Amino acid sequence: MQKRKLGQGLEVSALSLGCMGYGKARDIPDRSEMIDLLREAVDLGMDFFDTAEVYGPWTNEEMVGEAFSGMRDKVRIATKFGWDIDQVTGEHRGGVNSRPAQIRSAVEGSLKRLGTDYIDLLYQHRVDPEVPMEDVAGTVKDLIAQGKVRYFGMSEANAQSIRRAHAVQPVAALQSEYSLWTREPEAGIIPTIEELGIGLVPFSPLGKGFLTGKIDVNTEFSENDFRNQIPRFAPDAREANQALVALICTVGERYGATPAQVALAWLMGQKPWIVPLFGTRKSERLQENIGALSVTLSQNDLDQLTIGSAAIRVEGTRYPEAMLRLSGL
Ligand SMILES: NC(=O)c1ccc[n+]([C@@H]2O[C@H](COP(=O)([O-])OP(=O)(O)OC[C@H]3O[C@@H](n4cnc5c(N)ncnc54)[C@H](OP(=O)(O)O)[C@@H]3O)[C@@H](O)[C@H]2O)c1
Repeated sequence: MQKRKLGQGLEVSALSLGCMGYGKARDIPDRSEMIDLLREAVDLGMDFFDTAEVYGPWTNEEMVGEAFSGMRDKVRIATKFGWDIDQVTGEHRGGVNSRPAQIRSAVEGSLKRLGTDYIDLLYQHRVDPEVPMEDVAGTVKDLIAQGKVRYFGMSEANAQSIRRAHAVQPVAALQSEYSLWTREPEAGIIPTIEELGIGLVPFSPLGKGFLTGKIDVNTEFSENDFRNQIPRFAPDAREANQALVALICTVGERYGATPAQVALAWLMGQKPWIVPLFGTRKSERLQENIGALSVTLSQNDLDQLTIGSAAIRVEGTRYPEAMLRLSGL
């Protein structure tokens, strides 16, 4: 598979697979299927995988560790700290916590759960307004010096936080939401990271499934599906936002490409240091999404998507209000 370079020389497969959707790994019946899927992704050439302490909490990292045991040198594992998780019980107390002691403890836990002695890329999941960025970056710098972490990343941080952190410990990647229906990073964030030489790992590149064209007003999400809480997925919004899917389909038809492939190809067409981070629980979709690497959109088609999607008013916010407040986008 093609490779891409993020910041600080971190080279990874051009697409990344996110494990968040595998949920509380132990609670889901198909845990072994998810492990098989992760291994299939490696067989297909992917080497960049994303988890977090908070996914579960804890169980998701354990599943990822099990999936990659015996092939540690073939994969780049990214995980994240930053939520206020009780380090004894694993209870997510809500809110953020990036105090240095919490970071160090979370990393020890992540290493154990992942069954490894180093984390390739360690992200701060959300900026903690109570802890100076210099303290966070300094703590990660120490962890890098100790060999427990290879690269530092941030998620949904604003430009000022990125600059402050980067001055202490160079940042390799920013992981923030960016896609055809979430364009906020273009205003200030993308120019900042371009200037600083930081790569972008856009999460939810398929709009949490919406941009694939498989979701419409009649789609029913299961009771505990997070999308039930997202304003953009309210039935009226889903109906109004179909205009965006229609645009993506129009371009896709020219290439015989699916909407998911077009959404990923558009992101990869923006900058060579963008590595989309998608999620799927299905083998056929994994293969379909990897097929985006064979879709090179012409400049005209990139422009049509860029300009056309900006002209479509997206109904509903991308997160509930409380989550949006924690974001620096
Ligand atoms: N840093 C952060 O705060 C943050 C926040 C959110 C996510 N993330 C990371 O980003 C990863 C991806 O995010 P995401 O899952 O929200 O976004 P996504 O990739 O935009 O959407 C995933 C959804 O799309 C569906 N899907 C995937 N491929 C498809 C295809 N070809 N056709 C139709 N449907 C398809 C999946 O369903 P199936 O599973 O049924 O295929 C799933 O419901 C996560 O796993 C996580 O690692 C990070």
